[in-house]
Amino acid sequence: MKPFVTVLLAVACGVLWSTTTLLAQEDMRTVPNDVFMAPQRPPAVFVHDEHNTAAGIDECNRCHHVYRDGQLVEDESSEDYRCSDCHAETDTDDGMPALMDAFHGNCKQCHLEKGKGPIMCGECHQRP
Ligand code: HEC
Ligand code: HEC
Ligand code: HEC
Ligand code: HEC
Repeated sequence: MKPFVTVLLAVACGVLWSTTTLLAQEDMRTVPNDVFMAPQRPPAVFVHDEHNTAAGIDECNRCHHVYRDGQLVEDESSEDYRCSDCHAETDTDDGMPALMDAFHGNCKQCHLEKGKGPIMCGECHQRP
């Protein structure tokens, strides 16, 4: 009986390990809204890698940008930071867009420019 239990345990651990690995590799499905104190909308649909491939965006810093002295830095990117690390939820008086405006300015602005991608509230903020 004992060896059997050991085998079962080993199999169970293997299954658990592969599930967590799969989860870790899964593409982001929505832009997390946990950074807002009291979110009013469901998080926006955004399948990160799939979206960027379909939209043909090659440069990470098209979204994960870096500014120095008010100038956009061409060949640096900030994907190790969250947007909220730099953009405060409430308006500041230094000309930085507040967090919601930063998201809308990034996402909606490009969709408008390209004439592709959702611009209506409910198309991005979809009820799960
Ligand atoms: C192109 C996609 C897109 C569209 C269109 C869009 N949003 Fe958003 N919005 C976002 C993203 C991304 C965030 C950041 C966090 C998240 O996922 O909700 C956000 C955040 C917000 C927030 C702050 C977080 C919260 O839930 O309180 C509000 C409020 C909001 N949007 C309302 C609207 C309204 C109203 C409209 C239509 C006039 C709209 N949005 C259209 C993408 C979009
Ligand atoms: C169209 C805009 C856009 C582009 C292009 C983009 N990202 Fe992102 N990425 C986001 C947004 C939005 C988030 C969520 C940020 C937040 O929560 O503050 C994010 C989150 C991330 C995260 C952390 C969350 C996670 O677990 O996935 C990493 C890492 C990341 N991006 C890497 C990259 C890399 C590398 C590239 C280029 C190959 C890239 N991104 C291109 C918009 C973009
Ligand atoms: C390392 C800090 C930093 C991070 C991280 C960051 N930003 Fe910014 N962002 C800035 C600064 C600084 C400006 C203001 C530039 C200026 O003075 O006009 C800015 C400006 C913007 C603007 C208006 C100008 C433009 O480029 O369109 C938008 C929209 C924006 N950010 C969206 C985002 C989004 C979305 C994310 C996350 C994917 C993000 N930012 C992450 C620093 C940051
Ligand atoms: C640089 C341009 C650009 C930026 C920035 C951008 N998008 Fe898009 N997005 C596109 C294009 C182009 C398409 C249409 C792709 C296609 O033809 O399938 C699209 C399609 C979409 C779609 C519908 C298709 C899908 O992938 O489900 C959603 C949802 C979406 N975008 C959400 C977002 C959100 C949320 C953000 C901000 C975090 C964002 N986008 C930022 C260009 C952009």
